[in-house]
Amino acid sequence: MGYVSVIAQEALTADVYSLTFESPTDLSQGFEPGQFLHFRVTDSFDFTLRRPLSLCAADVQNNQITVVYRAQGEGTKRLTRLKAGDRVDVLGPLGHGFLTHQGDKKVLLIGGGIGVPPLVELARQFHESQVRVVSALGFATQAQAILLDELSDCGSLFVATQDGSLGQHGFVTQLLTEDFCAGIDRYYACGPTSMLKAVQQVMRDRNIAGYLSLEERMGCGIGICVGCVHPIARDGKVVNRKTCKEGPVFLAEEVIFDE
Ligand SMILES: Cc1cc2nc3c(=O)[nH]c(=O)nc-3n(C[C@H](O)[C@H](O)[C@H](O)COP(=O)(O)OP(=O)(O)OC[C@H]3O[C@@H](n4cnc5c(N)ncnc54)[C@H](O)[C@@H]3O)c2cc1C
Ligand code: FES
Repeated sequence: MGYVSVIAQEALTADVYSLTFESPTDLSQGFEPGQFLHFRVTDSFDFTLRRPLSLCAADVQNNQITVVYRAQGEGTKRLTRLKAGDRVDVLGPLGHGFLTHQGDKKVLLIGGGIGVPPLVELARQFHESQVRVVSALGFATQAQAILLDELSDCGSLFVATQDGSLGQHGFVTQLLTEDFCAGIDRYYACGPTSMLKAVQQVMRDRNIAGYLSLEERMGCGIGICVGCVHPIARDGKVVNRKTCKEGPVFLAEEVIFDE
């Protein structure tokens, strides 16, 4: 934990920002794509709860992390004021990220909207280890599409937009046909809950195992407050698991969504 220096901040779209800062821990000691950073918005008591944002890219050599976030509520809007040289209080990287499996040759990354950022570092690591990466991304409109170059640099990229302004018209799940999924060893998904639920169903039909990164509201971020639990099916039982500590990434088959 601690204060770190901001290296750079830039706007990627009208309301999405990329923020690069010194890592609070030594990245060469290890981290996982899919882990998150917990940001204290200001030093005052205006914002008591930290804001969780996923690690999007890690520069191990320079010990820097980039997060990509949408400024939607008061806290994230306040983060947009940060500029190079400012200090910010960040915890992390926290939680359990995406697990990779030796022997996988081709993986599918499925992202929706502001759920795309954590897939970038994962794609980069797969690409580096010569695992073929196929990315299927969904956005509301072309104007909201982000990180396309970063993902197409690591493999093949397919996009769906709800208004048809870019790629296929419709939801990202409409890309996931049987032909499209042929030869995929495993999938990794992050996005809104409605998307994750639909992805879980489609990929179950395709008989492909995978991981889902869940977005629960968080308090402490370190396993103390129990504010972030999600029901998980494990060993024939339903158990509540802390998303901050045992997630945010879970085995897709274990995740229980509301009917
Ligand atoms: C593990 C994890 C990783 C995330 N990664 C990203 C990311 O990379 N980029 C990104 O844009 N967003 C990400 N989010 C969502 C992001 O944390 C929320 O959008 C943000 O906390 C909202 O804060 P706010 O100040 O804009 O909104 P406010 O309405 O002011 O927030 C009020 C409170 O609700 C919480 N809250 C509001 N919306 C959410 C939400 N969708 N998920 C969790 N908590 C919420 C806030 O943390 C805060 O405690 C992630 C969430 C989680 C749990
Ligand atoms: S956020 Fe406090 S236990 Fe998970």
